[in-house]
Amino acid sequence: MTLKLGIIGTNWITKMLVEAAHESQAYQLTAVYSRRAESGEAFAKDFGEVAVYTDLAAFYESGIEVVYIASPNSLHYEQTLQAIAHDLHVIVEKSAFSNTKEYEAVYSALREHPNVRLFEAARHVHQANFKAIEAKVAEMAHISGATLVYEKYSSRFDDYLAGKEPNVLTREFSAGALTDLGVYPLYAAIKLFGMPKESHYFATPLRNGADGRGIVILRYADFDVTIQFGKGANSYLHSEILGMRDTIVIDSIAELGEVIYKDGAGNDTEISTPAPANPMVPEMQVFAAIINDPVGQDATYRELLTLSQRVNIVLTNLRQDAGIIFPADK
Ligand SMILES: NC(=O)c1ccc[n+]([C@@H]2O[C@H](COP(=O)([O-])OP(=O)(O)OC[C@H]3O[C@@H](n4cnc5c(N)ncnc54)[C@H](OP(=O)(O)O)[C@@H]3O)[C@@H](O)[C@H]2O)c1
Repeated sequence: MTLKLGIIGTNWITKMLVEAAHESQAYQLTAVYSRRAESGEAFAKDFGEVAVYTDLAAFYESGIEVVYIASPNSLHYEQTLQAIAHDLHVIVEKSAFSNTKEYEAVYSALREHPNVRLFEAARHVHQANFKAIEAKVAEMAHISGATLVYEKYSSRFDDYLAGKEPNVLTREFSAGALTDLGVYPLYAAIKLFGMPKESHYFATPLRNGADGRGIVILRYADFDVTIQFGKGANSYLHSEILGMRDTIVIDSIAELGEVIYKDGAGNDTEISTPAPANPMVPEMQVFAAIINDPVGQDATYRELLTLSQRVNIVLTNLRQDAGIIFPADK
């Protein structure tokens, strides 16, 4: 039985998600929500018989079972709460919620709707190459530290330079470099090493007070993880996880194209396999497996939810450390 899928947000990432959903054979797109009928119809036309809604309540009552939310970050919270109230499963884009206060309210709503499953779409941690990194880290005798990098010039940065305020670079939409790109290496660090005992954020502000790039330092009991990310420049640095003599070298901690284990004695072994053409397929398979077998997959689900909430806690702490306040914090 395929799951009836509805989507919110009609940008390119939603198209990629719907293609992944269909490729997984676990979902069928049946409804699109857009603020404007024309953009909803333009999106839906590639996917056959799909109903288009401009009214959110009507969309939630249209018979969908799962909603994918890919609106600007600040809107995720209200849209998720409404979906949970309608007993719909939710796949919400990263960064899921603006702060810990919102996450706690979502948790309370989930307790009142115990059959609902909530997922944050952190696509990279579900990929085979991430699992290969995890397995290798578990084998390594000692971790001395890590440097994780995700810094890409954004097409939206041109708009910012032209004097505009693109959603993804504004605090009004709970956005900026940390919540947009920094969240990928942060997810990786917390998945691999757990909660840090301290976290610090050195942010480079944009003229509007949002962060355009930054350096995060996560302090663990006996090592530190440095994270570099930004939206106004291109970095070609690889990410590295340091053992003692041995090292894992990753071309991109978010895209996970090539992962090499260097044993320090001259032997380099590729531990990656070719990345999926559509990087959202693995997460969509995992989410469907959990929805379709909630009892059998409960431990996996709880682990993912805990990871998502931990990332939200550290994101909130990091912004506090850098003095970045979102309107959603008030
Ligand atoms: N997983 C990934 O690889 C990946 C990649 C890119 C983005 N994302 C995430 O996806 C989400 C959307 O990012 P994006 O860059 O696509 O954002 P965006 O272009 O600013 O907005 C996405 C969609 O939300 C709706 N929207 C835009 N502005 C709005 C507003 N002011 N009020 C209400 N709705 C509005 C629009 O849909 P309608 O016009 O149809 O209403 C738009 O297509 C974010 O959470 C982002 O972090 C994830």
